[in-house]
Amino acid sequence: MKANNKRQHIVAGNWKMNKTFQEADELIDNLMTELENNDIADTKVIICPPAIYLEMASDMAEESYFMVGAQNVNENESGAYTGEISAAMLEALELEYCIVGHSERRAYYHETDAIVAKKVDALLKHNIKPIVCCGEVLEEREANRHFDVIKRQIQEGLFHLTAEEFANVVIAYEPVWAIGTGKTATPEQAQEIHAYIRGLIAEKYGAEVADTTSILYGGSCKPGNAKELFAKPDVDGGLIGGACLKADDFMAIIKAF
Ligand code: PGA
Repeated sequence: MKANNKRQHIVAGNWKMNKTFQEADELIDNLMTELENNDIADTKVIICPPAIYLEMASDMAEESYFMVGAQNVNENESGAYTGEISAAMLEALELEYCIVGHSERRAYYHETDAIVAKKVDALLKHNIKPIVCCGEVLEEREANRHFDVIKRQIQEGLFHLTAEEFANVVIAYEPVWAIGTGKTATPEQAQEIHAYIRGLIAEKYGAEVADTTSILYGGSCKPGNAKELFAKPDVDGGLIGGACLKADDFMAIIKAF
């Protein structure tokens, strides 16, 4: 356990577009067994399955220690948006969290910082905590522009919020070059950016808000590297993709605190 207890430790699993219904049921079942058999201390465990499994996951969560989040939400309240899901619908399932601004959504579905800001608003209006992703692509890091990119994403996606609203936000730093590539940021690289993000929050909302905001690392985080990453003072947990698809790997990461 880290010395800093001001912040909630969070390990969230982003299933992305994986698992059939039966496989999803099995994975949650296996996770429930793992959670029963292990001491997870005060770490909050969140699973973010595809939308079609959210109701099942939410029902199963009632019997266990995990919480459920969605992977995406539409920014509009309701209406003619074929195929989309609203924050009101997520709220009706009693979901606690929703990922916003994942780099895959930014890259493949043209989600801009302005859209991220609207999605954050829609979620907060419906009492759902946004897990807001930021992170640079490889060319931006190589051109030494990663601080600027992250600053823009955080400012434009989040800094319209009041301090009271911001207190509900979780941030995930996910360098795009580390997502699904097996190439993890070093613990020092993660710490450097997490401290930078916390500094931006402190400047805008003050030290107290900054000190209580959970900032997660994501990008090829796995059982073999989670401990070193989570040991860094400003890394408050992880947003896990590939390694959350097996209950024992996900559990090993949860236990890495
Ligand atoms: P990864 O994905 O763990 O498979 O790299 C992380 C994420 O995209 O959230």
